[in-house]
Amino acid sequence: MTRVLVLNGPNLGRLGSREPDVYGSQDPGALRDLLAAEAADGTEIDLRQTDDEGELIGWLHEAVDAGIPVILNPAAFTHYSYGLRDAAALVTKAGLPLVEVHISNPHAREAFRHRSVISGIATGVIAGFGFDSYALALRAVGAGR
Ligand code: DQA
Repeated sequence: MTRVLVLNGPNLGRLGSREPDVYGSQDPGALRDLLAAEAADGTEIDLRQTDDEGELIGWLHEAVDAGIPVILNPAAFTHYSYGLRDAAALVTKAGLPLVEVHISNPHAREAFRHRSVISGIATGVIAGFGFDSYALALRAVGAGR
């Protein structure tokens, strides 16, 4: 069984009711269903969400220690959290893939969203495809259908 950690940052627990014009009207349960449908046989999807920066950093440390690939939507932390960047760098420096994903295309939005402090250490970035960004990321880590 291959495991993939799919980590969502702050306010993504509100998907479905949060700015549906930007993020769509599907809730976190729908994301769980999509990941289950898109994962290759024998892949365990471990989907988690937190509003807490320290908790998210702890989960990245867990990925390093257990050797688990990561799909990360850092949400607003994308734009300013050097602590999260340093933790994400531990993942890629360990030779594990870390794909940064965004539901929206931050580059088509406000200027403060144009900068990601995560992208420079990520294996790759997928943004702007709604929940399909996660499905594409699964393929990118070799765990998609
Ligand atoms: C987001 C984009 C971020 O700018 C924003 O703060 C989010 C969600 C996205 O998935 O499009 O919370 O990461």
